Amino acid sequence: MADKSLTDLSWDDFDEARDPRPAQNQFDQVVDRAVSRRGFLGGALAFGSGAAVFGTGLMSSTTAARAIGASRFGFQPVDIATDFEIHVPAGFQSNVLVRWGDALWSDAEGAYSAETGVSADMSDRVFGENTDGMELFEVDGKQLIAVNSEYVNAKINLPAASEGTPQNADEVKLLKNLQGVTVMEVADNGNGFKVVVDSAYNRRITHETEMAIAGPLAGHALVQTKADPKGMTVKGTMNNCGSGRTLWDTYLTCEENFNGYFGTTGAEPEGAGYKRYGIGGQSRYAYEKFDARYDLSQEPNEPHRHGFITEIDPSDPSSTPVKRTALGRFKHENAEMVHAKDGRIVVYMGDDERGEYLYRYVSNGVYTQGGPTEGLLDDGVLYVAKFNDDQSGEWLALTPETTGMDAAEILCFTRMAASAAGGTTMDRPEWVASNPLKVEAYCALTNNKNRGVKPNAGGDDTSVNAVNPRETNNYGQIVRWTPVDENHAADIFAWDLYVMAGNPKLYGNEYGGSENVNAGNLFNSPDGMQFSSDGLLWIQTDGNYKNEGDFEGMGNNQMLVGDPETGEIIRFMTVPYGAEVTGLCWSADKKVAFVGVQHPGGSWPDGAGKPRSSVVSVWREDGKAFG
Ligand code: FEO
Ligand code: CA
Ligand code: CA
Repeated sequence: MADKSLTDLSWDDFDEARDPRPAQNQFDQVVDRAVSRRGFLGGALAFGSGAAVFGTGLMSSTTAARAIGASRFGFQPVDIATDFEIHVPAGFQSNVLVRWGDALWSDAEGAYSAETGVSADMSDRVFGENTDGMELFEVDGKQLIAVNSEYVNAKINLPAASEGTPQNADEVKLLKNLQGVTVMEVADNGNGFKVVVDSAYNRRITHETEMAIAGPLAGHALVQTKADPKGMTVKGTMNNCGSGRTLWDTYLTCEENFNGYFGTTGAEPEGAGYKRYGIGGQSRYAYEKFDARYDLSQEPNEPHRHGFITEIDPSDPSSTPVKRTALGRFKHENAEMVHAKDGRIVVYMGDDERGEYLYRYVSNGVYTQGGPTEGLLDDGVLYVAKFNDDQSGEWLALTPETTGMDAAEILCFTRMAASAAGGTTMDRPEWVASNPLKVEAYCALTNNKNRGVKPNAGGDDTSVNAVNPRETNNYGQIVRWTPVDENHAADIFAWDLYVMAGNPKLYGNEYGGSENVNAGNLFNSPDGMQFSSDGLLWIQTDGNYKNEGDFEGMGNNQMLVGDPETGEIIRFMTVPYGAEVTGLCWSADKKVAFVGVQHPGGSWPDGAGKPRSSVVSVWREDGKAFG
């Protein structure tokens, strides 16, 4: 029987259990080095060579040092909360759009039970659990939301006797089906929209959905299995975290903690790639005991077929999703696609694990609006970010010359390629968002308790550096970069920290955060990010919600909004105790925001029975649009 404790762990702690930190963490050195970095955001380094290289207007000051100007937000911030409710500003309303277990087709009406959840038979007919990234598409006058269900809370879904670990194939089926992707039509009902049950566009994509493998890894020996000896088709997508959208209006779903689904009933697989990705031993959900596909002793290449960006056409429910191997294999958070000035396609992507990297894909071909898209996500170059301490940075191409690996190995073991090329180890890169009004992009570095404490899983140094400036970083920061020549495909950029979260009530040093953090907007662990069309940055948190110790005054997880020009950040929304906020999109008319509430506590939102991960809608009472 699987270790019951595994399903209780957060995904980060699951990794930590595989790769424990040393008993002694040289704490004295940690503190010394942290103190020596004090004042970095005070401006001393703000005018380093980055400004000289890029000219005077580009990085003329750090945001932290900027004066707070007139608010563009149009609402009064909400206070922190510690309860089991949603809170939005005065003048706004919210409602629940859809909960885990709600029917997508009428045959599943009533399938959800407050006592037992959903049966295996109905598990792919309902909205999945643990909602995450989402995007809204307009198709033939309809509004469709494509939305991820990242993972399942096994103890909530399985009978109590199973104690959080599947005991048979039916229970495995249940858990597998509640993950993946939902495409659902939504319609304005005057109360924050409703799901259109039985819409012809509704679709569930799960661990069982057949997908194509595209790009340089397609057909390669590394992705061949007994079930798919040609290495061209794969069942399913898993641990779908953040999202993205192409310029041609398809959905990008991002496979994050895929490693936790594979285990072995026999011999451990050999190869450095397994260790670097945390694959081996016993899986989180014990699927390997009931399905050979997840058993490394049976199908050692199956995990090589996951951890990709997968493209889905929401307009065609019969379309085959496509795994885009050219964008690399790692714990993909989201995929932020932009159109570079020179016409090429650029996709920014974070690898969310402590001490892993930030990546960029650049297509070889160019795109023109409405033009052909063939090859744009299959033929290109992958880069890893290097952040220099002088606030300049560069994208390092991952090639056989820079990595000592062949092209297929680079895409299958991208982390090892990034290490070889000399990228900068980061504090858990989560979402990347690009400013629609300016050629710049932002990445949430959510936190990293191992910064300065231990190397990453590949043995790479994770000492503090300018972009990850705090040892034992429990608060997180957001970095932004501006490419040279206003071209996202350029290889050089300048960067600064948009915000360092912290607690100025407790700390007078860098753990107090940057100057745009204050008693009124305390938060930790920025994660989800999206820009609205007016150039405001919406920041969602997935952090410590205990409101005590270092996190006192921060309360439940929250969604804030930041003004990139002034640095001002205010709190828009708080979610129920226990939940993280993740996933954000808007109705076609921008009047309704759809916000994901993942793993809530208590019995939210029903008030009794199990807690249910949900998408909520938020809108202004005066009918004005967001952005
Ligand atoms: Fe699924 Fe890194 O968040
Ligand atoms: Ca996340
Ligand atoms: Ca997170």
